[in-house]
Amino acid sequence: MTINILVLATGLSVIALMFAFTLISGSPPTPTSPRVRRAFLALLPRRLPVGDVYELGAGWGGNAIALAAAFPDRAVKGIELSPLPWLVTRLRLLFRPRKNLEFKRGNFMVQNLSDAALVVCYVGGAQMVQLQPKLAAEMAPGALVLTHTFALPNWRPVDTVQADDIYRSPVYLYEVPINEPDQPSGAVASANQDAAAGGSEADS
Ligand SMILES: C[S@@+](CC[C@H](N)C(=O)[O-])C[C@H]1O[C@@H](n2cnc3c(N)ncnc32)[C@H](O)[C@@H]1O
Repeated sequence: MTINILVLATGLSVIALMFAFTLISGSPPTPTSPRVRRAFLALLPRRLPVGDVYELGAGWGGNAIALAAAFPDRAVKGIELSPLPWLVTRLRLLFRPRKNLEFKRGNFMVQNLSDAALVVCYVGGAQMVQLQPKLAAEMAPGALVLTHTFALPNWRPVDTVQADDIYRSPVYLYEVPINEPDQPSGAVASANQDAAAGGSEADS
């Protein structure tokens, strides 16, 4: 009986924790599917610009681990706010460490990205709007940004692909522009997104 109550209390606490951090961060820890991951890895150039690889909102670690394997000569840094996915990933890495992967708990909005060669990010559309000026202000021109499902509002992707998952999820590869046009998301954003996604955007 006591054990049942303990199991129930633990389960409810875990659900409450996940729910609370989804509210705080604005994104549930929905993992990238293997099909979408395959599509985005295929879209990335084998030779990256100089710098480190970041995954912002790295969830359960699947993308960060795959990036560390794909780019063994680069330092890969995963940043995740929600404690449970972060803990699960740290445990995964305890059992199978990756030399070039650092997995930190924190808010990616306070991470300086000036040394980034590549930023990979899968968060909701509202967060993309907040993230775009940060990427433009901190990342070096020519560095790469890869997103899927949700596009950056004002940037024109240099390449796009549709994954072969059930949502036909769009994947977007961007190069950091030399001068970020100072414009809010709106008509230009929609036009860019429609062009890139062929008019279809899947929800996560
Ligand atoms: C849709 S999930 C994607 C998880 C993982 N990147 C993947 O694709 O498998 C978004 C993740 O971003 C995290 N997140 C959202 N805002 C964040 C922030 N400001 N700092 C760190 N993590 C954040 C959420 O906790 C969630 O785990």
